[in-house]
Amino acid sequence: MEWGMANRLAQLIQPDGHTLFLPIDHGYFQGPTRKLEEPGKTIEPLLPYADALFVTRGVLRSSVDPNNSKPIILRVSGGTSMVGKDLANEGITTSMEEAIRLNVSAVGISVFVGSDYEKESLLNLAKLVDDGEKYGIPVMAVTAVGKEMEKRDARYLALACRIAAELGARVVKTYWCEDFEKITGGCPVPVVMAGGPQVDTELEIFEFVHDGMQKGSIGVNLGRNIWQNEFPVAMIKAIRAVVHQDATPEKAQEIYDGEKAGGTKKS
Ligand code: 5RP
Repeated sequence: MEWGMANRLAQLIQPDGHTLFLPIDHGYFQGPTRKLEEPGKTIEPLLPYADALFVTRGVLRSSVDPNNSKPIILRVSGGTSMVGKDLANEGITTSMEEAIRLNVSAVGISVFVGSDYEKESLLNLAKLVDDGEKYGIPVMAVTAVGKEMEKRDARYLALACRIAAELGARVVKTYWCEDFEKITGGCPVPVVMAGGPQVDTELEIFEFVHDGMQKGSIGVNLGRNIWQNEFPVAMIKAIRAVVHQDATPEKAQEIYDGEKAGGTKKS
């Protein structure tokens, strides 16, 4: 592997082989999004506990201090919205030249396997990988399900992750599901887990993150269940303990409860 590619991956994946990516990219198709209305305010208290930030160039330039940042994964796909015809009909929104200018550590793109735009999104990924490899910039593929959350099962996600890896993604983001080892076992590149829409209890999150880590995931790319939580800093610290210190779900709950008792509530 070329030095630049290896160095960027090392910025993203910590020496223990694990990582916590913080995605703040939801506005690119959802608009303001609850608790992400002012991205800078959401990011600031959480940044010290993230290993990398997943954002669009608009949020990066407007809301992230260039003097005090973490490695950036730049969201470079988009062009659709929640109110449009089909979320899967994305294109590449940001050039590799811009990614280099912004000094990012990786770029991220969604693929929509099984959708009407499967071929386009996969060819977008392949083209982005070609461009990224030229300059030593890793590509993270996001296995997106659009509004069809029920697609989140091992059979579908293993298929989508494997295809993304075959097309050259250096990291793949997917959802946790039962039999998660089928996903990591069939994917030759590192897999990180998203959280999806906010769930009812914190423990559910700690349990699935712990299970996924035991089954071969290298970490998370987990957004709403952190920053939509009433105590986002407590939440990210607890998840960090599962990812980097092998904390059990019960231990993570203890960390969350302790931090919550002394922490700041997000309005
Ligand atoms: C949104 C994304 C997110 O980065 C990804 O889904 C993770 O966020 P969350 O944990 O909120 O699902 O790709 O387009």
